[in-house]
Amino acid sequence: MPQPPDPQTKQTTTPSSNSAGYKNICVMGLGYVGLPTAMLFARKGFSVCGVDIDKAVLSLIEERRVTEVYSELSEWTDALDRDFKTSKAPKPADVFLITVPTPVHPETKSCDLRAVKSATEALVPVLQPGNLVILESTVPPGTTRNVVKPILEKSGLKVGTDIHLCFCPERILPGNTIHELVHNHRVLGGNTPEASRRAKALFEQVVEGEIYITDDISAEFCKLTENTYRDVNIALANELSILADEHGVDFKAITPLINKHPRVNVLTPGIGVGGHCIAVDPWFFVEVSPWKTELIRTSREVNDRMPAYCVQKIVSDLKAIEGTGKSQEDLNICLVGLTYKPDVADTRESPAMRIVELLKERGYSVTTYDPLLEEYQGQSLYDTITGADYLGVLVNHSMVKAELALNKTKIKKLMRTPKIRVF
Ligand SMILES: NC(=O)c1ccc[n+]([C@@H]2O[C@H](COP(=O)([O-])OP(=O)(O)OC[C@H]3O[C@@H](n4cnc5c(N)ncnc54)[C@H](O)[C@@H]3O)[C@@H](O)[C@H]2O)c1
Repeated sequence: MPQPPDPQTKQTTTPSSNSAGYKNICVMGLGYVGLPTAMLFARKGFSVCGVDIDKAVLSLIEERRVTEVYSELSEWTDALDRDFKTSKAPKPADVFLITVPTPVHPETKSCDLRAVKSATEALVPVLQPGNLVILESTVPPGTTRNVVKPILEKSGLKVGTDIHLCFCPERILPGNTIHELVHNHRVLGGNTPEASRRAKALFEQVVEGEIYITDDISAEFCKLTENTYRDVNIALANELSILADEHGVDFKAITPLINKHPRVNVLTPGIGVGGHCIAVDPWFFVEVSPWKTELIRTSREVNDRMPAYCVQKIVSDLKAIEGTGKSQEDLNICLVGLTYKPDVADTRESPAMRIVELLKERGYSVTTYDPLLEEYQGQSLYDTITGADYLGVLVNHSMVKAELALNKTKIKKLMRTPKIRVF
């Protein structure tokens, strides 16, 4: 049953009182972005139909097992008992949100738009005059108007007059999804000003952040620029840390000193960049303008080379242990933290996984552990490091950091050779 709006939000309107009268929302793709978005709308009293082509995803929701995969959504699971249906195909609705994946092809580094195209195609038979379609998937500039719009118009309805189309990038940070989905500022890029106006009226009912209006291609450009900005700055920090290593300087230790400069904010270097956004989206700029994206491409390459650089460091640590009489085959190497960043259970494009792969390729046998991943449940850090010759902490989850801070002596005692490196 629809529930009254959440009193914690500033909006007090009911869905039927929004200027466009939207009530029924259909969300195409129920992953990291789509599922919480669908839950948000359901919690605000909208009638929601969540669509996914993956039966396992639908079962996860129907069987109320969402938190097995998305533990951070535990506060919002009441959404599923509201007016929330699931389906493998879209049904007629007022608004369609497209939140399907847009991965990069591993070799060509071009954006794979197949899911966006097929999700849009699936809308064609159910579209009705007055509908609003909002693309939230991150895409190369021009996709909303050049790819999505012509597909929608196969319905015989004209975008801009009969139906409305908008690009609305999502900016959530996994690990802080619930807060950011509601409180982040949003950029809305309508294919027409009327589409922007309608999308704004809709989002104003569910978000607390400010809403800024632009056109579709500018909004696409904003989203790619945000992630490219992060990637380029991380690449700079990573390159400087490699340079610092060469000079025997501890770059992490001096970063706070550098950042005492009033106009400098160097990021923390790391083992590379992973996840579905920063490691992927800058390629969409390179794809559309290969000759004008030298810095962006180089930054991606610098960040992609970091796992290999970390492997060099690990191998040099291991050689030192081998120097004490142990052979490569005997070494008990333990690597902890496999997700793409601390405190999330997501391994997509994870540099830590790449490090494990590269070490195995070099003939090392490696034991891995990540307290956040399903396959390691029932296992502890202590089980993993007992008898180890090397502990490499690749991703420093809060709970691992706390163990190391509190129990380093115990950990070292359990290891056969107490060599620890925290990346
Ligand atoms: N994960 C993030 O934090 C984040 C943040 C901002 C933007 N984005 C962007 O949002 C988009 C979605 O990312 P995600 O992380 O939610 O992806 P995801 O892989 O977690 O989820 C996508 C879902 O879409 C489903 N799907 C695929 N094709 C479909 C189709 N034709 N019809 C219906 N469902 C379909 C998949 O089965 C999957 O469940 C991407 O473009 C991503 O770049 C993601």
